[in-house]
Amino acid sequence: MDKIHIIGGVPLKGAITISGAKNAALPLMAACLLTDETLTLSNVPYLADIVTMANLLAQHGVTLSFRPHAQGRSLALNASKIHNFTAPYDLVRTMRASVLVLGPLLARFGEAKVSLPGGCAIGTRPIDLHLKALEAMGAEIKLEDGYVHARAPHGLQGATIQFDKVSVGATENILMAAALAKGDTVIRNAAREPEVSDLAHCLVQMGVKIDGIGSDELRVSGVAQLHGAAHVVVADRIEAGSFAAAAAITGGDVELLGARADMMQATVAALTDAGVTVSETPRGLRVSTTGRLRGADLMTQPYPGFATDMQAQMMALLSVADGASMMTETIFENRYMHAPELTRMGANIVLHGASALIRGVPKLRGAEVMATDLRASVSLVIAALAAEGETVIHRVYHLDRGYERLEEKLAGCGARIERIWSRKPLQVEAA
Ligand code: EPZ
Repeated sequence: MDKIHIIGGVPLKGAITISGAKNAALPLMAACLLTDETLTLSNVPYLADIVTMANLLAQHGVTLSFRPHAQGRSLALNASKIHNFTAPYDLVRTMRASVLVLGPLLARFGEAKVSLPGGCAIGTRPIDLHLKALEAMGAEIKLEDGYVHARAPHGLQGATIQFDKVSVGATENILMAAALAKGDTVIRNAAREPEVSDLAHCLVQMGVKIDGIGSDELRVSGVAQLHGAAHVVVADRIEAGSFAAAAAITGGDVELLGARADMMQATVAALTDAGVTVSETPRGLRVSTTGRLRGADLMTQPYPGFATDMQAQMMALLSVADGASMMTETIFENRYMHAPELTRMGANIVLHGASALIRGVPKLRGAEVMATDLRASVSLVIAALAAEGETVIHRVYHLDRGYERLEEKLAGCGARIERIWSRKPLQVEAA
């Protein structure tokens, strides 16, 4: 397995281009199943999770052409020849977002067999909200052999769905199911994440009428058929927030090109509370720190609150702030696995259930550490960039799920970072 080697202590200076959002691109890719016309997505990030979703869709019968390095990195998807309605365990277990094919397959074909995703490193992450909502729309759902067997032989009916908990994935699955349901669907307590809104905007381009986009109440008028569309994937607010924390912890000055301040207000507020200077520029966001950082108290919340996907990154930053910080994780039950790794680098973090008390230390020290999940892995990169000495981060496949060309982007701002390939380098035959 690849490793990443970092020598800390260099203030990051320069500009980083923010990629398209992984958590928008994944549901947008699943939306291609709703029509037999081509859906073209641009600004698609080239990530392991995108490849996994592409493989999942391909085994359903979707044809894809991905030009990851062309201008705009476009991905064209066509689901006119779907021959398989099963999302198999071996794919779903590697990426829980695979469950997002359930709503579209059921809505368009009246059947779907999707492996239960199982838990993951950060929590059990059930899909009960998805299933209950689909049943309210007339689906017959059976759980057997670790699979969801869903049928809607007469199609789905519009319904009023009241989520008792905010769920990004459930909101997205029901949005897509409602697009082809008979009649109107109202989704109450809907997730408001920008990635949900991006999906809704794309569905509107595909011919669906949706009111309330960006609010917690979405009203969808189902149509008999959707047409193709061309859609630009929204910028990744979590990638931008991650690089903002990296710039801040190193005492750097970095412009995040394409970052959307309007989608990052809670992250900007958290950084500002910690003493970071963040300003909007015509090209995105500029992040710099001159003096010491100061402790801040943060609690993760559904959007527009402080994002759980930024919790690990802010913990790394606050571990070298003056004073103490209290972090409370309200979304997932086990999302502190980065804490013991940061502690190995000299951080002073005490966990109390959903809360973490972070007492700032003057400096972190480089160490051998292990990535455990996507955002935990980037928090170790952030800490290593500021730590004294060398850090080696193991199991960086976690990182590759959500960060495109991370080493290149950071090295471009002066970071001393390299990837140590575990695979044998290509043997080039002597000419
Ligand atoms: C999405 O996951 C994101 N993934 C996650 O990002 C993100 O952390 C999460 O939303 C919260 O913002 C993608 O968009 C691909 P949820 P999702 O359904 O949809 C519980 C990353 O790092 N719940 O909003 O799976 C669930 O257990 C990833 O990029 C139920 O109880 O999250 C959790 O506690 C990690 N029943 C809470 O709701 C359900 O049926 C929020 O989960 C569904 C969810």
